[in-house]
Amino acid sequence: MTSQASMTARSAPDAPMAGSRRDGIVRPPAGGAEAAWLDRVTLARGGRIVLRDVSFALETGEFVGMLGPNGAGKTTLMRAMLGLVPAAQGELRVLGARPVRGNPAIGYMPQSRAAAGGARLSGREFVSGVVRGHRWGLPMLNRDGRREVDWALDMVGGRDLADRPLLDLSGGERQRLLLAQALIGRPRLLLLDEPLMSLDVHHQRSVVDLVRAVQRELRMTVLFSAHELNPLLGQLDRVLYLGGGHAAIGTVAEVITGPVLSRLYGSPIDVVHVRGRVFVMSGNNDAERDAYRQDGHRQDGHFHDGQAHGRHGDA
Ligand SMILES: Nc1ncnc2c1ncn2[C@@H]1O[C@H](COP(=O)(O)OP(=O)(O)OP(=O)(O)O)[C@@H](O)[C@H]1O
Ligand SMILES: [Mg+2]
Repeated sequence: MTSQASMTARSAPDAPMAGSRRDGIVRPPAGGAEAAWLDRVTLARGGRIVLRDVSFALETGEFVGMLGPNGAGKTTLMRAMLGLVPAAQGELRVLGARPVRGNPAIGYMPQSRAAAGGARLSGREFVSGVVRGHRWGLPMLNRDGRREVDWALDMVGGRDLADRPLLDLSGGERQRLLLAQALIGRPRLLLLDEPLMSLDVHHQRSVVDLVRAVQRELRMTVLFSAHELNPLLGQLDRVLYLGGGHAAIGTVAEVITGPVLSRLYGSPIDVVHVRGRVFVMSGNNDAERDAYRQDGHRQDGHFHDGQAHGRHGDA
């Protein structure tokens, strides 16, 4: 299994692959109804192509899981939607417009959880740190600001965390606060970059269920990246799988198949179903799990430093 998108990646094959006009799908012109719309988009980082000629749309109000091995381009794609990575080629629209930095209609939970004000901050202070774009230091909130923070804490069932120091919270509790932070401003599109990182299976399920409940209540579009499909099964509307520089999008039944993933990667992949769980196998290995393990830093879900990360200003 390659974990690196490359310049020599194969062309995207047919439906439901979302890679090129060769897929035979006729897409309507972007009319602004889609939450995100990509037309033959190529994204490059550090002089190398990460995603090549990718076309797909995220429909308004759907919950899409984004999967793919380390380096497949999940974070890069989110950052492109946030206006932090320009498309090298092609056209990208988010909420009907070209991506712009600091779009308040987009909520973002970054993968790197450089966090706020140190672990001494309370849960409420941490969530407050993003109200009205205050990235550095804590804003003095007016009544509306305080109400918004309370609303976000309530959305994630986090009122009881509000007065506790971050240092004392479990990984799962911190994820709830990070989600609350991303909900400030009531975004229409929520980009969650590996919110299951470092959580055990039980907490993974509860975060997925929570995001699903919030997504339905607020009718948001959610793009949720993860390294394993199983915690997301049963809650996803569709899955976006990145690999080999390409993308495949569709229902789990459409995308998570041996033929589709083998075409995506350009190498043989088997999909094994065991008692309601799905495993993506490369040779005799669980490809998703191996990709996860290669990345040692992600085992550490702790807060690292002293500043509130912005909603999406951490270019
Ligand atoms: N700022 C950068 N400069 C150079 N290369 C970069 C930069 N950011 C990302 N890349 C490269 O782009 C590729 C895609 O990275 P990206 O972080 O999008 O992958 P990912 O799918 O999110 O991976 P992971 O599962 O490890 O989070 C990788 O090869 C990475 O090394
Ligand atoms: Mg990433």
